Amino acid sequence: MHHLVVLPAGEDRELLADALWMAGAVGVEDLSAAVRGAFTDSGIAKTVATQLGGTVEVVADPDGLDAWRAHATVHQAGPFTVRPPWLDSHPEAVDLVIDPRHAFGSGSHPSTRLALEILASAVTTGDHVLDVGTGSGILAIGAARLGAGYVVAVDTDPNAETAVRANAEANGVGSLVAFTRADGVTLRGTHDLGVCNMTIDLHEEIGPTVAERTTIGRMVVAGILVGDQEKRAVAAHARTEILDRRADGDWAALLLG
Ligand SMILES: C[S@@+](CC[C@H](N)C(=O)[O-])C[C@H]1O[C@@H](n2cnc3c(N)ncnc32)[C@H](O)[C@@H]1O
Repeated sequence: MHHLVVLPAGEDRELLADALWMAGAVGVEDLSAAVRGAFTDSGIAKTVATQLGGTVEVVADPDGLDAWRAHATVHQAGPFTVRPPWLDSHPEAVDLVIDPRHAFGSGSHPSTRLALEILASAVTTGDHVLDVGTGSGILAIGAARLGAGYVVAVDTDPNAETAVRANAEANGVGSLVAFTRADGVTLRGTHDLGVCNMTIDLHEEIGPTVAERTTIGRMVVAGILVGDQEKRAVAAHARTEILDRRADGDWAALLLG
């Protein structure tokens, strides 16, 4: 069962599609006069529809949800090449094999690639890493491939668990990546490095509680737009220092000290 959020669209189609992906859609279709995104959780679908001015339709098997598979391609992000398992490997790069199935994180979104780029300079050997909103596990697995000693990968999405486990195994880091199905606000613990790729409203919703209840050395934040959202993300995570910044078009990612 999927819940389709249907948004009437005009010239803002690309922005609306981005907003649906960032809200956790497992598939997005551009229908010209509308953009629709499939969600597995009815509550999230209703919230997203209300926020973005759309409606929700419940369908058994949405057409187009897996359409991306036929057009999947290889993405470059810092030292990584990200590819689905059915495309050729790139031995000259850090080869990340990711099949997101119905979770977010194929490497096609700039926010994911920016987070990978920053991780490449932020992870040191043996680090304990926390990935909040792991989706396909792409960032957690990327951190493990860069030498992290242990990675906790957290998501509320029931689709994430199967994807993270399969992808971690496919990349030879199954023993280093532990998936936990949980809301970010419930987390506790101590980590050398955190990473969180989410929309700014989610950073503001969970960032303060994560900052209060956990001890995290440095924090990679992505999923934010260039400009005001950068300051808001720094504040949401109760940080003061920007150690690194990357941008791609409208999207930015920060390494916070
Ligand atoms: C934009 S996706 C990022 C996926 C992946 N980390 C990447 O970089 O491509 C955001 C993820 O956060 C998850 N999420 C949303 N709210 C959450 C919360 N309160 N706690 C944990 N995960 C959450 C969504 O289910 C989604 O998988």
